[in-house]
Amino acid sequence: MKYQFPDNFWWGSASSAPQTEGETLSFGKSATIWDQWFKEQPTRFHNGVGPADTSTFYKNWKQDIALLKELNHNTFRTSISWARLIPEGRGAVNQEAVTFYNQVIDELVAQGIKPFINLFHFDMPMVMQQQGGWENRDVVTAYAEFANVCFELFGDRVKHWFTFNEPVVPVEGGYLYDFHYPNVVDFKRAATVAYHTMIAHSLAVKAYHERNDGGEIGIILNLTPSYPRSQNPADVKAANIADLMFNRSFLDPALRGEYPQELVALLKEHGQLPACQDGDKELLAAGVVDLLGINYYQPRRIKCRDSQVNPDSPFMPEWFFESYEMPGRKMNPYRGWEIYEQGIYDILTNLRENYGNPNCYISENGMGVENEQRFDENGQIQDDYRIDFVRDHLKWLHKGISEGSNCLGYHMWTFIDNWSWCNAYKNRYGFVSLNLETQQRTIKKSGEWYKATAAENGFN
Ligand code: BG6
Repeated sequence: MKYQFPDNFWWGSASSAPQTEGETLSFGKSATIWDQWFKEQPTRFHNGVGPADTSTFYKNWKQDIALLKELNHNTFRTSISWARLIPEGRGAVNQEAVTFYNQVIDELVAQGIKPFINLFHFDMPMVMQQQGGWENRDVVTAYAEFANVCFELFGDRVKHWFTFNEPVVPVEGGYLYDFHYPNVVDFKRAATVAYHTMIAHSLAVKAYHERNDGGEIGIILNLTPSYPRSQNPADVKAANIADLMFNRSFLDPALRGEYPQELVALLKEHGQLPACQDGDKELLAAGVVDLLGINYYQPRRIKCRDSQVNPDSPFMPEWFFESYEMPGRKMNPYRGWEIYEQGIYDILTNLRENYGNPNCYISENGMGVENEQRFDENGQIQDDYRIDFVRDHLKWLHKGISEGSNCLGYHMWTFIDNWSWCNAYKNRYGFVSLNLETQQRTIKKSGEWYKATAAENGFN
């Protein structure tokens, strides 16, 4: 069977400034929370490798864009580093950063690759974190100023903007489960961070729409379908609560301009609602996106709790559900994540049936592999597992489109193996392998496969 995709389908890959640029404390850039955390606790990072050790896109951008072109990308996502563009968080703009981002955007456009630009990929400037980060409404305003500077400087050429990548991750990582700075564990503070993130998002969307720049603005969400262990009402309820907390707390404001009433009621009942200001309701309503980016890696398997929660324990999402290891599930043996290709189709179906079938695209999907630097006699990594992974997800994506979903493209995570937060280079994801010492890039077998798929706009 031939899997042919619609004309003008976006074939590309995604990356981010903090994971690729390098030059973390030079050329005018100030520290982010990652630079600070690495300074404080290098042992939290896999093999002690920190944010400065990257593919150095700051210097190698031209070579990398040539590679994107070679791999037949027609679109590419990266982000603009707030700490690089506005080192004090607000105020003066760093002209070296303006030059750098202008060169990158111009080169992408010149090569026929549409730049998709995201404004926040987990990389809070440290000066802003010192003022309370997303817990502080002033930081929200500063972010909106940063967004406006970006629209003003680059909006003539960038027509696809995103306010945030996976906004739930800094909430979970930084305020619930201790895998991001500032390593707080406190649900109420997490709820405030989540809420303020969506206020910041709405301010940026509203400002962008008011400019009438002829482009689109969206948000990138890691929509993790929550499947109940059984159709038993207790399991179904548990899965619904996980869905409310981790998906709908961002998806509903982004697509409907308001929070789900069930979520508001639940948080109110437990005294966990964040503080609101006059005008927030209208602001959230103005934050409805033009385009939704969907990151999909794995599903969430949920069951009801086996034991009663101790009411004296701190309030956590896990008061309402437990994770469940479904027998027989297919696993990525190299990363420990479940592989469930149909999840991508289920997300599209949910969007079509319950959210008015918005314009969307797959903004990340990919396979992390440990110890992947195994080259064959021709010097190539034979990553057939990654080809299978991408192709099998694309098949389900194709089915969603053929049933009417407005899914406009697919971006693999990621282009070149990149630095991945605390995991550093533990799991490699690229179509192109990176030798960190020599900075040499080598296209993997999957890169060649993707190149052909993009050229043919599909595969057999
Ligand atoms: C995505 C993030 O959730 O997962 C990326 O947007 C990240 O920034 C990717 O690198 C892979 O994560 P990990 O933990 O497997 O290296």
